[in-house]
Amino acid sequence: MVRRVLITGGAGFIGSHTCLVLLEQGHELVVLDNFDNSSPEALRRVQELAGSTQLNLVEGDVRDPSAVDQAFSAAGTVDGVIHFAGLKAVEESVSDPLHYWDVNVNGSRVLAAAMDRHGCRTLVFSSTSTAYGKPETFPLREDMPTAPVNPYAETKVAVEQMLTALCRSGSWQVACLRYFNPVGAHPSGRIGEDPMGIPNNLFPFMTQVAAGRRDRLLIFGQDYPTPDGTCIRDYLHVMDLAEAHGMALEHLWERTTPDPLTLNIGTGRGLSVLEMVRGFEQATGLTIPLEFVGRRPGDVPRSLASPEKAQTVLGWSAHRTLEEMCRDGWSWQQGNPAGYRQNP
Ligand code: NAD
Ligand code: UFG
Repeated sequence: MVRRVLITGGAGFIGSHTCLVLLEQGHELVVLDNFDNSSPEALRRVQELAGSTQLNLVEGDVRDPSAVDQAFSAAGTVDGVIHFAGLKAVEESVSDPLHYWDVNVNGSRVLAAAMDRHGCRTLVFSSTSTAYGKPETFPLREDMPTAPVNPYAETKVAVEQMLTALCRSGSWQVACLRYFNPVGAHPSGRIGEDPMGIPNNLFPFMTQVAAGRRDRLLIFGQDYPTPDGTCIRDYLHVMDLAEAHGMALEHLWERTTPDPLTLNIGTGRGLSVLEMVRGFEQATGLTIPLEFVGRRPGDVPRSLASPEKAQTVLGWSAHRTLEEMCRDGWSWQQGNPAGYRQNP
């Protein structure tokens, strides 16, 4: 059945891959994005890959009620919303917490109020594994307490709480997806992650080193209580994550859930920083120059999902391999050395 879906932040890394999956499933999309951290070129390429023009773009800010209303009007009737628009840099959230509360929390409030006005109460929200804070038992399960340790994670937990209250107040259908560490790109190499400036995250930094844009990868800490001393994360292919959104929406359309459906989206397999680098070297045949430096403030030694609930409830599991994450991420980097921009 063809549905109309409003996607905030649809031009971003995860949003663009999700738009592609939904267009390929035949849905009609309206994207609301202010291009704060993305480019319209991503959406042009998404339509080209999907062979579909069923994507309407409204350029605007999710905190602006009139822009959100315009997106609803552009769609006609909206069957569901996926809310990606938001900020994600932990360090920046520490130096500018008000901005994070404004975009992430106020933006979600403005969006939810507009959804209510327009009679669409089906929402998939981008949450984060950092909601669990610095846990000591693994794998992480959704029934474990949230304990955010930085303003970024606090804003995501605050939105989860707001959505819980909304569900309890009436007829809302909500899924909060707690993403672990998405990496890689669409296998075509046409869309991918396009961070502005120096990448904060391991994977895009590593691919830029591989491309010769940066001279070496700095590994933050070699003295963690892990087998090789570097931090462990649950990395998943961005296409697996994109597919989880389609499945979450289908689930919300088919079943009634009184409380938000909170799901970890990860693989259940942990990789250390060194294992990720070695995996990339194996998949690409390249060598990544490394330098070990001190720990990065705020890093947790380990993060690892229990993906069981997503498997049981949605029938979703990550099936793409580390090799595919590396190969596809590298093919995006090689084909687009300056991302979507013409000049680096
Ligand atoms: P991204 O920055 O690539 O995408 C976010 C998109 O939202 C961009 O297109 C940006 O231009 C847009 N946007 C930002 N502020 C906006 C505003 N005020 N109004 C309208 N559009 C706005 O990030 P991403 O990696 O695709 O992440 C998507 C969502 O998932 C974010 O909410 C992020 O916090 C969350 N998340 C990301 C990760 C990750 O590792 N990438 C992990 C957990 C959660
Ligand atoms: N790392 C390096 N060198 C780098 C970058 C990262 O050694 O140049 C290390 C980090 O210290 C950490 C690991 O690689 O041990 C992963 O770091 P990332 O920054 O790639 O990922 P994080 O787990 O720290 O955080 C990311 C996003 C958050 C999100 C979280 C969970 O930045 O927004 O994943 O999805 F919430």
